[in-house]
Amino acid sequence: MAYSRTPEPVLILGIDTSCDDTSAALLGLDGGRTDVISSAISSQFEIHKKYGGIVPELASRRHIEMIWPVVEEALGDKKPEDLSAISVCIGPGLIGSLLVGVSFAKAISYSTGIPLIAVNHLEGHLLSAFLEHTPEFPFIALVVSGGHTSLFKADGFGRYTGLGRTRDDAAGEAYDKTAKLLGLGYPGGPKIDALAREGNPKAIPFPRAYLGGSFDFSFSGLKTSVVNFLREQETIPESSRAGLNDIAASFQAAVIDVLARKAERTMIKTGIRRLVVAGGVASNSALKEKMSRMAVKRDAELFIPSPKYCTDNAAMIAFAGYHHYLNGEFAGLDLNAKAYLPL
Ligand code: KG4
Ligand code: ZN
Repeated sequence: MAYSRTPEPVLILGIDTSCDDTSAALLGLDGGRTDVISSAISSQFEIHKKYGGIVPELASRRHIEMIWPVVEEALGDKKPEDLSAISVCIGPGLIGSLLVGVSFAKAISYSTGIPLIAVNHLEGHLLSAFLEHTPEFPFIALVVSGGHTSLFKADGFGRYTGLGRTRDDAAGEAYDKTAKLLGLGYPGGPKIDALAREGNPKAIPFPRAYLGGSFDFSFSGLKTSVVNFLREQETIPESSRAGLNDIAASFQAAVIDVLARKAERTMIKTGIRRLVVAGGVASNSALKEKMSRMAVKRDAELFIPSPKYCTDNAAMIAFAGYHHYLNGEFAGLDLNAKAYLPL
């Protein structure tokens, strides 16, 4: 391990306000054991759904209203003074939203003297499988969310090498944009996932952008294909048009074929047969099945968190913070949020 373990049990409060959910979690850790004591989330779904996407200004205003109630819920009968550290997501994300969580965490730290830890949101996702499993290093991590589609090699806590990332839209973004085109509303991922279960994934041959041997991704061409396909559909009689289920299933197959193939190629190239898939899109049922089949074929170990730890949550931020805590990596009160923050 890259850090020296401490035998003392610690209690870490995690805070994440990077996007549209206000979340706080309390994690109890002692060396080998991780206990998610609480994980509270206030969703802003109702606020943004009428706009078909997140409105940053409304998101930060709602974070301001909800940050204290959500942290209180996560703390339960514990007081801020009982904490060993406060671990806060500082980016990447929406700057106004991030600032609420970071300022709040700094205020608790200042008033109680509890140490502050800065966590990259992507590191939170990358380590989220540890909330329920104990994958050994090294492993390949595919982080697929609304803002990111990235492949990493993880050699230890804090030792990550980026292997590939999206050149345009993230996988979740492609789901959300396609769902909007299909009139399904926001967020699109779960809706397309549900519709696709009733459809034929081979009905429409949407393109797969494998980009040669690269480990990068590109999903904007797929989105354009869906737009063109829908335009063509309007020119033919309604009775011959493709059903929504088939469009959803075919779109989804194009996304997950690329994700699975790239993850597989990465494992072959690095010789690492251990894969973690995390982020909101990792809760997709067809992606999970496809990755499981691929892992069996490659005799690889596969770790996918439960849906509640795939989508944004503060438990993953507290867990990532624990390893900074063990390394004595604390932040000062000059800590700032960063919209752009590569891992
Ligand atoms: O990780 P996350 O909660 O937030 C970001 O860090 O972006 O991911 C949210 C994304 C959204 O784009 C949402 O549509 C997608 O994850 N998502 C899904 C599913 N559940 C959430 N995509 C496909 N299938 C799902 N079941
Ligand atoms: Zn996220």
